[in-house]
Amino acid sequence: MHSKTLYIKTFGCQMNERDSEIIEQLLAQDGYLAVDGADKADVVILNTCSIRAKAEQKVFSLLGQLREQKQLRPGMRIGVAGCVAQQEGEKIFSRMPHVDFIVGTQQIYQLPEILQRLDQGATSHELATDLDAAFAIPPFQQLLTHQPPANPEGFRRFVTIMQGCNNYCSYCVVPHTRGREVSRPVADILEEVEILVSQGIKEITLLGQNVNSYGMTNPVAETPTSFARLLRLVAAVPGLKRLRFTTSNPKDLSAELVACFGELDNLCPHFHLPVQSGSNRILRLMNRKYTVEEYLEKVAALRERCPQIALATDMIIGFPGESEADFEATMELLRTVRYHGSFSFKYSDRPHVRSAEFSDKVEESVKSERLARFQGLQDQISLERNQEQLGQEVEVMVESAQSEMWKGRTTTNHIVHFPAAAQPHQPGDCLLVRIDHAGKHSLRGNIVVPEAEIDH
Ligand code: 5AD
Ligand code: SF4
Repeated sequence: MHSKTLYIKTFGCQMNERDSEIIEQLLAQDGYLAVDGADKADVVILNTCSIRAKAEQKVFSLLGQLREQKQLRPGMRIGVAGCVAQQEGEKIFSRMPHVDFIVGTQQIYQLPEILQRLDQGATSHELATDLDAAFAIPPFQQLLTHQPPANPEGFRRFVTIMQGCNNYCSYCVVPHTRGREVSRPVADILEEVEILVSQGIKEITLLGQNVNSYGMTNPVAETPTSFARLLRLVAAVPGLKRLRFTTSNPKDLSAELVACFGELDNLCPHFHLPVQSGSNRILRLMNRKYTVEEYLEKVAALRERCPQIALATDMIIGFPGESEADFEATMELLRTVRYHGSFSFKYSDRPHVRSAEFSDKVEESVKSERLARFQGLQDQISLERNQEQLGQEVEVMVESAQSEMWKGRTTTNHIVHFPAAAQPHQPGDCLLVRIDHAGKHSLRGNIVVPEAEIDH
């Protein structure tokens, strides 16, 4: 049988990356072979993000380009999945009539049937965007756990522990595109991790929109399990070398979670803790439910517990009503915490969100100028933070070991480049590397040769 080819272009966050893996895994069962370009694919799926206006624009401009390809190859099928699909639904068909199917964030498991119906000519357009469809995910995830991964290569995987979000930060589209927060049962998560580790996976990242509130809403067991407890259980899976998680709302960061750092050997000392603004007035308008002072207490507790922890954050610049004084408070927070790195974005209005209705929008030119100031200071701090590692010997997990320069990652999530080892190594192997050069985005070093090897 001629196998069909599939190309998925993923936009946005790790949740989407994981969903794309699931789609590949599901469609591999029906004989679809993943290829690396739309021009070679029978089916093209854009797994989309709508977190900022720009992310959404990118999707529509790529769909525009695909229209031309489809004119040359009319048999090609084009689908939209993810957050833009959820948000825009059938409006996408009227704007982009060459799109064949639209699948929302909770409906990807329907893709095999959708493609079959299109193949059989039963329909010409397919739409599946139901949200909050009574958590269809547990049996579905269960099913996936027992299927071989589409790409058996690799040494790290994401494991979804919850979906959706209940926080309703005033700027954020996610509760509208991903639905209500639901936690996945502990036993399913542990089973998936155990299977992955037995297949040779070395690093697991637990995924959710707000992992810190795992088990708190819609508890899936009579006695809800906290995120910290889940972390302990996953960390104890024999053979798991590195454990990470993303992403967290500071308001739900518990003392119990702080205590996990320094206690669980394989929990990486790296924490992505989005703060969004350094001004209490703006944090209130954002509905973040914490103050700068409370945030700083949590940072201090983490650093006390685990001094080497690397902190990263997300920052929104130019939220409606942000004055120069509010922005200065954000700069002050950056100077105080001295993040190892951050993702910073100009505020943009999104559909359905409360802040879209706020007056007092900040001028585009002011947003750009503030963003440049923020990023300039962050770059300088990132460089200084990286320089703190000079001369240190750190454990690096190899990510690519092909050319003369290899690449790997420290437990603190820093990228390290280093000359190839004398012996061949696989991605996922750990080596000791001495850092001898620090740039603002990465480190360089040399493998520390064990004394026994020097003798030979
Ligand atoms: N405008 C700009 N940035 C946003 N983010 C979320 N919503 C918006 C918006 N409307 C940023 C936040 C979040 C990150 C994923 O994207 O910083 O943490
Ligand atoms: Fe983008 Fe948010 Fe959707 Fe992830 S959950 S794809 S970041 S809009």
